Amino acid sequence: MPDTALLRVKNLKKYFPIRGGLFSREVARVHAVDDVTFDLMKGETLGLVGESGCGKSTTGRCILRLIEPTAGEVWFDDKNVTTLDKRSLRHLRRDMQIIFQDPSVSTPTTCAATRTSSRAASASASASPAPSR
Ligand SMILES: Nc1ncnc2c1ncn2[C@@H]1O[C@H](COP(=O)(O)OP(=O)(O)OP(=O)(O)O)[C@@H](O)[C@H]1O
Ligand SMILES: [Mg+2]
Repeated sequence: MPDTALLRVKNLKKYFPIRGGLFSREVARVHAVDDVTFDLMKGETLGLVGESGCGKSTTGRCILRLIEPTAGEVWFDDKNVTTLDKRSLRHLRRDMQIIFQDPSVSTPTTCAATRTSSRAASASASASPAPSR
């Protein structure tokens, strides 16, 4: 077991500004992610669980820098993701990716489901009595 983490998240924060007023000034902030710290070793899986809006997706987006964190550090494979330039980030995204929540997009079940439903349809068609006229 390696002693260094594959993914290291340190004091990650993301605050979204809420703007209002005539000049669209920042009047408040949503603390979507507030001081998240964890290590993930190679081969480990981590589940983030919490009520809707507690910051799970925002944590993932900040780790990948799909949005910029307000503060904190993300290290992947001993690279400081938070300071990488665009080119290096693009390269890194071959190894770090988001899998979207929508099951019809994130799991390759469409083919199997289509086959299953067409089989079910033909089974029900053969089981149904012929319509009386
Ligand atoms: N671009 C944004 N601008 C302002 N606020 C945002 C933005 N994105 C997310 N938020 C707010 O940040 C908070 C965390 O949202 P997030 O989408 O990370 O929650 P979540 O835990 O993934 O929720 P769900 O389980 O519904 O997917 C919420 O209050 C949300 O309204
Ligand atoms: Mg989410």
